[in-house]
Amino acid sequence: MDFKNRDVISVKDFSKKEINDILSYAKKMAPYAKGEKHTNILKEKILSSLFFEPSTRTRLSFESAMHRLGGSVIGFADPSATSQKKGESLADSIRMADSYSDAIVIRHPQEGAARLSAEFAESPVLNAGDGAGQHPTQCLLDLFTIITEKKKIKGNKVVLLGDLKYGRTVHSLAYALSLFGAELTFVSPQSLKMPKEVINECKDFGVEPSSTSNLEGAIKDADVLYVTRIQKERFPDAEEYNRVVGTYRVDNELLKYAKEDLIVMHPLPRVVEIDPQVDKTPHALYFKQAFNGVPVRMALLSLILGGRRI
Ligand code: CP
Repeated sequence: MDFKNRDVISVKDFSKKEINDILSYAKKMAPYAKGEKHTNILKEKILSSLFFEPSTRTRLSFESAMHRLGGSVIGFADPSATSQKKGESLADSIRMADSYSDAIVIRHPQEGAARLSAEFAESPVLNAGDGAGQHPTQCLLDLFTIITEKKKIKGNKVVLLGDLKYGRTVHSLAYALSLFGAELTFVSPQSLKMPKEVINECKDFGVEPSSTSNLEGAIKDADVLYVTRIQKERFPDAEEYNRVVGTYRVDNELLKYAKEDLIVMHPLPRVVEIDPQVDKTPHALYFKQAFNGVPVRMALLSLILGGRRI
């Protein structure tokens, strides 16, 4: 399989076989991601890291991944300190990053910004989240986490909880989990239900997701509970946000309804939706999940930039 110089805009850009290949390669990357083994396969390669929206995990794990592979990183985390502040267009900023580096990672508040950037760049563009659109590398690390913990995806009962309307991670994940044959249940406030087009994509793979507002009932036989934050920054109306924030909270009381081996995932950051007491239980997988961003992004960068495998 040839990944060299490919853009990563949506998880839909990859076939199931290609996703499996990336995830297998990410497993090989794990000791390098932890610093137990060392490599220089991306020596002399430069990554542009352009974050037009706040991030902790995606930005730092991409940077860590690039450094662990022997490459270097340029970029910004604060667009107000760039010439965007003087009115420069996204296209021109991308043209510049393209001329200074070998690949571009971009996070942007506008849906479609990553795909647009790919049109102006000759180098590969990796979407690190575009508004309420896609977050393909998060999706890959989520799949990697489930496979690592549960050994397979097919047949696992996965509950997606929270902001299913604006949540870009759950849109990509619902698609990918259906591709791999998981069983899906959606739990959200009425106003934040999973969009119809995402449900239809699941159905295209023969998966019939169920929807409920009864979280206790939904987690009873679940293997994976994937929690998301209600994202204040995506709401056009503050009152609508205030109506739904705090609707669901995962705590140890709720987890009494769960199977012993239920894993709780969250793309993070969390605010109020998971009680910190849950962190101490064997159910809590979200910090390990966030670490998995490093081997997965190492695998992708290596395949896209290097062409040579470890
Ligand atoms: N999961 C995720 O995208 O986290 P950040 O917003 O911190 O990058």
